[in-house]
Amino acid sequence: MEKPIIVERQGRVVVVTLNRPAARNALNSEIMQAMVDELAPLDRDPGVGCFVLRGSDKAFAAGADIKEMAEKSFSEMYNDDFFAAWDRFAAFRTPKIAAVSGYALGGGCELAMMCDMIFAADTAMFGQPEIKLGVIPGMGGSQRLTKLVGKAKAMDMILTGRMMDAAEAERCGLVARVIPADKLMEEALKAAETIAGYGKLATTAAREAVDRALEVGLREGILFERRLFHSLFATADQKEGMAAFVEKRAPQFTGE
Ligand code: HXC
Repeated sequence: MEKPIIVERQGRVVVVTLNRPAARNALNSEIMQAMVDELAPLDRDPGVGCFVLRGSDKAFAAGADIKEMAEKSFSEMYNDDFFAAWDRFAAFRTPKIAAVSGYALGGGCELAMMCDMIFAADTAMFGQPEIKLGVIPGMGGSQRLTKLVGKAKAMDMILTGRMMDAAEAERCGLVARVIPADKLMEEALKAAETIAGYGKLATTAAREAVDRALEVGLREGILFERRLFHSLFATADQKEGMAAFVEKRAPQFTGE
């Protein structure tokens, strides 16, 4: 079986590649677990100064794996605290850059926002389309997107489910740099090497301090979001929205 992620060490930089290109890097439990299990020791390693997280040319990640979630009940989601492992990735202390090419949708956009900064290829498309599936963002999107781009854009993205391109994402502060697609990794690696060349205590402290500005109230917000997200698995619209995706048809929502 293919490995869910590919981890390559290049000196003090670690490049992590999401490795389900045929499924547009849909984030299933194997990817989530590998991200935590394989990267945690590297996060603690003083010889590792920066992570670069990337997907494929077509998709950074098209979200959580809808096929894996579609049949789950509220009690399963709530009891497993589904998605909680992603909080451990978000809490890694080593600086991390998301190098986004193609789609970053739903959990993919949320995963990019868990990184300290996003470098976007000019092909990148960002979105939180969960509303189309009868649910809401479940990996921190309602909180992080709102803090990063403000209420107006966050409401627009989350309520309509539309995508924004790289230029709009840079204008509204979601993205640090927009880069021609064929230069994305070169520039991300250059920045990662610069960061990894500084003292890790300082870079860790610097990102912790900047994050502090967003952290206040964030934990409560994410817990609130997760409980709401879990509870949507008690609704018919979630079953319908995800079944329709799997069956490649338009959903018929009833508001139940
Ligand atoms: C499971 C997925 C998937 C996903 C794509 N695939 N996204 N499988 N979960 N999130 C699968 C498709 O079913 C298909 O499988 C294969 O990947 C290729 O996808 P295509 O649609 O044929 O590719 P393309 O035409 O290039 O379109 C790419 C896309 C589209 C625009 C990204 O796949 C798409 O809209 N995906 C869903 C995006 C989404 O709704 N994300 C939010 C998920 S919820 P087969 O077997 O047919 O080849 C979330 C947040 C958590 O992330 C909240 C809970 C819902």
